[in-house]
Amino acid sequence: MDICVIGAGYVGLVTSVCFAYLGNRVVAVDANPQRIASLKKGDAPFFEPGLNEFLTEGINSGFLEFTDNIESAVKKSQVIFIAVGTPPLPNGESDLSQVMAVARAIGGALDASRPRVVVNKSTVPVGSGNWVEMLVNQGLQAMQPVPARSARPESPVFSVVSNPEFLREGSAISDSLYPDRIVVGASDEHALSLMRQLYKPLIEQDFVAPSYAMRPADCETVPFIVTDVPSAEMIKYAANAFLAMKISFANEMSGLCEKVGADVRQIARGIGLDTRIGARFLNAGVGWGGSCFGKDVSALMQVAHEYSYPTPLLQATVAVNDRQRLVVIKKLQAELKIIKGRTVSLMGLSFKPDTDDLRDAPSLTIARQLIKMGATVKVYDPVCNDTCRKLNPDLDVIYCDNLRDLARASDALVLVTEWNEFKTSPWPELAQLMRTKLVIDGRNVLSQEEVQEAGLTYRGVGH
Ligand SMILES: NC(=O)c1ccc[n+]([C@@H]2O[C@H](COP(=O)([O-])OP(=O)(O)OC[C@H]3O[C@@H](n4cnc5c(N)ncnc54)[C@H](O)[C@@H]3O)[C@@H](O)[C@H]2O)c1
Repeated sequence: MDICVIGAGYVGLVTSVCFAYLGNRVVAVDANPQRIASLKKGDAPFFEPGLNEFLTEGINSGFLEFTDNIESAVKKSQVIFIAVGTPPLPNGESDLSQVMAVARAIGGALDASRPRVVVNKSTVPVGSGNWVEMLVNQGLQAMQPVPARSARPESPVFSVVSNPEFLREGSAISDSLYPDRIVVGASDEHALSLMRQLYKPLIEQDFVAPSYAMRPADCETVPFIVTDVPSAEMIKYAANAFLAMKISFANEMSGLCEKVGADVRQIARGIGLDTRIGARFLNAGVGWGGSCFGKDVSALMQVAHEYSYPTPLLQATVAVNDRQRLVVIKKLQAELKIIKGRTVSLMGLSFKPDTDDLRDAPSLTIARQLIKMGATVKVYDPVCNDTCRKLNPDLDVIYCDNLRDLARASDALVLVTEWNEFKTSPWPELAQLMRTKLVIDGRNVLSQEEVQEAGLTYRGVGH
């Protein structure tokens, strides 16, 4: 099938390489010409395991090309994905300006040669399907003012469907090839059957798995969930809100565990084995972050607000997370007493391991708060020191190239991102280099025994 994917970010690029791998002719479009130039050379603009291999394979197979020209890409495509960003506005609403520009541009490029499906893959508030349809029509009419689309017998046929994305950065290729489910919200049969055809290899799992993204043993077929458009849009928000709430729940319990002398890790195991609850997303720590949870929960609250519908559970989810981010600072105060003049070293910057995404990363909140309190902050991330430097020129931290430099003359090491490298840190050596021998494990992933055996004081979260 001929498809184009507009927006070559985390979602759009991964979608493009996966559909090209499955044998579709894919044009990936981005408004950023530098991004397009490096993609043409096979360089991914961000860190994602397996992505570079996939990219090279797509380009070499001839199934994947890149352009900054929306018009040419739309003209040759049967299915047009919108995968641009929907970042938060200061009031919490989604900024839909990228979606708006793209929808209008799609309208301006459509012709009557064949029916098209415009697929909203960006996370957009409920009602956006109608809105995108209106914008595509506006773009269409701006290019061909008379007569109106519906009045012309040769008018291009298009329909808008919602196909929310559930991939996780760090395992985006696997999540896209072996998803838990595929959700499509559509109101017409033609669009639905095209989407089913496009997703058939994933639904039936009958493609040969790439060596760098093996098929999980339990992935035989993938449920294809058909809904109306508003329900598909709501599913995405509800899923993220629920996951964020689950983590906030674990974090709220962790504070109480510390008061009563219980261990939140044991609580998570004890309740997670109940199949009604499930074990995942129950890890206590410095709280959730990233490009999706915060913005999607805020956007959902904004939608509810428009309908004067109170959302106390969502508000509490955010409030618990805000408090949790600073929990390591409370622990530093408890151990070091005075923060002013101390050197605190953060292990990890990205909002989670295996990505270089720093959007809404807890590390930034923690670093800024420590600086405000008069500490010197050193940081080391195995992947995203440079990204952080570039995106946060105002962040007054000392970047270190390895764990030893990070530990040198520190008053505390604080694990913020659970990169694998940190789990096997050379604790005895790091302990020798530190000024005060304190480790705060902000993700509960270190071996308390190993840290303590090296003569360091260990403090985790919720135990
Ligand atoms: N990142 C994730 O893990 C994730 C997961 C699921 C859903 N989503 C959703 O998917 C959407 C995309 O997220 P992302 O993280 O990939 O965003 P991103 O910011 O990484 O990428 C967006 C891309 O769109 C491009 N773009 C912007 N305006 C454009 C235009 N007019 N024409 C062409 N290209 C344009 C940008 O240059 C950028 O490369 C968002 O709505 C997000 O909420 C993201």
